[in-house]
Amino acid sequence: MRKNNMSLAVLDQSEKMDALETKSDVSIIGLGFVGLTTAAAFAKLGMKVIGLDVDSDKVSKISKRVAPFHEPQLEELLLDSEKNFSVSSKIELAGRSRIIFLTVGTPSRSDGSMETRFLIDAARNVGSAIKSSTDYPLVVVKSTVVPGTLLKVVIPEIEDASGMTYGTDFGACSNPEFLREGSAVYDTLNPDRLIIGGTKKDSAILLSFYKRLFGKKMPKTILTSPSNAELVKYSNNAFLAMKISFINQIARICESLPNADVQIVAEGIGLDKRIGRSFLSAGLGFGGSCFPKDVKALQHFSKSLGYDAPIVEATMKVNHDQPLRAVQIAEEKLNGLEGKKVAILGLAFKPDTDDMREAVSVKIIEELLQKGAIVSAHDPKALKTASLVLDDKVQLVSDKKDCLRGSDCALLVTEWDEYKTMKPEFFRDLMRSPVLIDGRRLYDPTQFAKVLDYSAIGLDRGASKTTC
Ligand code: UGA
Repeated sequence: MRKNNMSLAVLDQSEKMDALETKSDVSIIGLGFVGLTTAAAFAKLGMKVIGLDVDSDKVSKISKRVAPFHEPQLEELLLDSEKNFSVSSKIELAGRSRIIFLTVGTPSRSDGSMETRFLIDAARNVGSAIKSSTDYPLVVVKSTVVPGTLLKVVIPEIEDASGMTYGTDFGACSNPEFLREGSAVYDTLNPDRLIIGGTKKDSAILLSFYKRLFGKKMPKTILTSPSNAELVKYSNNAFLAMKISFINQIARICESLPNADVQIVAEGIGLDKRIGRSFLSAGLGFGGSCFPKDVKALQHFSKSLGYDAPIVEATMKVNHDQPLRAVQIAEEKLNGLEGKKVAILGLAFKPDTDDMREAVSVKIIEELLQKGAIVSAHDPKALKTASLVLDDKVQLVSDKKDCLRGSDCALLVTEWDEYKTMKPEFFRDLMRSPVLIDGRRLYDPTQFAKVLDYSAIGLDRGASKTTC
């Protein structure tokens, strides 16, 4: 990693603002995973970008080119984009850009519906910021929102706060984002498609921006209505989540079927070009800030239209039960969990992130504690974020040896690279009883079952009988 010996411009004082660019090509409001990566990527590709966020601590960190969360290559991107990228907590600066992207969060409410609070605040702030603008600013919603949100929520709020008229004084588009945490930088610089929902006039403005940005590398693009664009994003996430729940269901069948292995089944069906192999890795279920929230929101939205969307519902049901499968296996193996020491390897919702939102580890650990187990846990990057959400009873350790030492059972929850190289003897030599439950199919069953009492999601329980 390169050294952070310079800092981004922070446009917090008016005198500084005047000394810097008075106009930027784009403003990006909301500097979370999507917003910050998008802002830095656009700047690296040559656009003048102002990143805006109401959280001044976050702005201050970014101004020193420190990423506020763990994301591979993001700090390098912040360095590479330094010349074109400024940050501020003054949202009114958005008024200086022709195109304003909204990338604020849309978390779940307790009933599963989408929370619009942050989006409404951002839309109103944009409305105030563009009030005196005469050059037809374009507001682009990149946040994941249920169909109808651009037209029924965002545009009316902007009109109300600005006194301007949509279509005459300002434009608006829906332009969902498909980046994945852990590969956010690559995904943003190399999108597989662009989906643009808006009127002909507004879509043309955004299209010409992207053509300038990507040049010859312009991805395939669909121009459509805002509602279609919004629904593409929800359907995309729900479909991928459904693939995961589908293979996890097949995994459960494999566990009771002599000599069955879900990995072979996934390879087999994945060779069918109509299905494909991706998102067919059986495991302990999906987590993160997107799939659970978006599938729930789609379910809620569909219900509001009078349709239950049973596949969407089943996707959530399978995912609800799947993490607990690991606890069930541990309970069977150890004849109950009371007083047993269980070592958890991996806490983040997936590798290469420190994000603990909806991580399945939380559910597994809660269940283990409730059944009286003593839990120690390791993660290469997420110990700090995990400490904010896990029960104090969990012993969080930075050395995986300390995590495994003296344990009755180890449970592999997140498939970090550094766990891949661990040999079965490493577990055996540290553990009190060498019971390993591979929740992410990281290890070779033949090799591991020779040394350990090895069980895995989607593997016939008889086939992996211990020989140690
Ligand atoms: C997901 C989508 O992949 C992105 O396209 C989308 O832009 C993003 O949500 C979003 O809406 O913002 P992300 O949540 O970062 O991205 O992570 P994924 O790589 O999709 O993984 C989600 C979960 O599914 C993880 O818990 C992962 O462990 C699990 N998973 C994934 C499986 O259990 N099996 C698989 O085969 C693949």
